[in-house]
Amino acid sequence: MNNFIFENSTKVYFGKGCVKEYLSCLLKPYGDTVLLAYGGGFIKGNGIYDEIVSILKAAGKNIAEFSGIMANPTYEKVLEGAKIARENHADIILGVGGGSVMDCCKAISLAAKYEGDIWEDFWGRNGVIDFEPLPLGVVVTVAGTGSECNGGAVITNKEKKVKTGRDYPKCNPKFALMDPTYTYSVPQKQMVAGGFDILSHIMETYFSEPNEDNVSDDIMEALMKSVIRNLRAAIKDPKDSTARSNLMWDSTMAENRIIKMGKKCDFQCHNMEHQLGAYTDCNHGCGLAVLHPVYYSHIYRNGLSKFIRFAENVWGISRDGKSDETLAKAGIEALADFIKEIGLPTTLRELGMTDRHQLKEIADSCGISAGSYKKMTHKEILEIFNECFE
Ligand code: NZQ
Ligand code: ZN
Repeated sequence: MNNFIFENSTKVYFGKGCVKEYLSCLLKPYGDTVLLAYGGGFIKGNGIYDEIVSILKAAGKNIAEFSGIMANPTYEKVLEGAKIARENHADIILGVGGGSVMDCCKAISLAAKYEGDIWEDFWGRNGVIDFEPLPLGVVVTVAGTGSECNGGAVITNKEKKVKTGRDYPKCNPKFALMDPTYTYSVPQKQMVAGGFDILSHIMETYFSEPNEDNVSDDIMEALMKSVIRNLRAAIKDPKDSTARSNLMWDSTMAENRIIKMGKKCDFQCHNMEHQLGAYTDCNHGCGLAVLHPVYYSHIYRNGLSKFIRFAENVWGISRDGKSDETLAKAGIEALADFIKEIGLPTTLRELGMTDRHQLKEIADSCGISAGSYKKMTHKEILEIFNECFE
């Protein structure tokens, strides 16, 4: 196991009714004005907005609103939010939504308190945050990114055609409220995309060194099985509270840093998907679903023992006279079959891409992960993109 330091400063309140029970009390230490930030407005259609506004009003808070945070939030949108936070002298941001809202709010929490250019100083490169960001609390409405329990924020700079994430512990939300019943209204397409994002976060960590016995890999096998089982159950019945609860907590567990302890971590597929997103604005989980099986077919020989464990322990494939290589490949095939089964796209064309010529520029813009079993080159990334095309 590699050396590590573990810290997670976000306090989680999980379960049906948690917003009603705790929100008012949690906001008490933070002054009078709350910046209520959300996305395209689904929260107005399903009662979440009304519930939260009535809690804020009853607590005597002034509410400044910032809406329209888009999927794949942009740097421009961050600056717009920071301006509203400053103009209204917000004391705390309350982000209500999924990864896009939470990430945008984390970046706003920095931009509202920083005089310089936060893209240049904190996203373009790794920076040092030696000031206190505007406090942030989140109400999670969709399971997927796990953004509620880390300092990670993925922001798109449209001008520079870069989508990238940084994880600053100072950006961890002060609190996260997670009511699984809030996720009942997530459309199936988004639910499976979020579910696959969870699986991807776990796989990107599992398929990396060390390969020797370590507790993180054991936890991850249990988590992957949980995601697969509960995603199937939630597709059958979107109001299956056991399935929705498990998915919501799986998503946090995948990204609250616990499983990364002692692991090198890969995240090459994320680097590739983020740049696909920067150029095409595709859905994050869908992009990952297209890339993973093809990427793994390129690297499995370099991490054979782990791919064998994956086949046997996650998918229950029996060795039954199979060679190591056949067994490892059977695990990747099981993953590809699952992607089809839950209705995710399997090609870049299905993802909405029409122009193959763009692929070289996108491939050349991808970050290269130091944690991959097989260090990629931009040439091999282009080969993967081409294999994914149709
Ligand atoms: O726009 P609104 O109205 O909020 O609707 C959203 C959006 O259209 C909708 N939705 C959310 N909760 C709902 C709901 N609709 C009905 N009922 C509900 N309860 O779902 C759509 C997608 O929301 P979004 O927040 O974009 O999805 P997700 O949580 O998958 O976040 C994706 C973003 O997070 C980044 C991705 O790259 C992408 O930009 N990531 C963030 C990470 C992190 N901070 O740690 C890690 C990830 O790897 C990822 O890169
Ligand atoms: Zn992700």
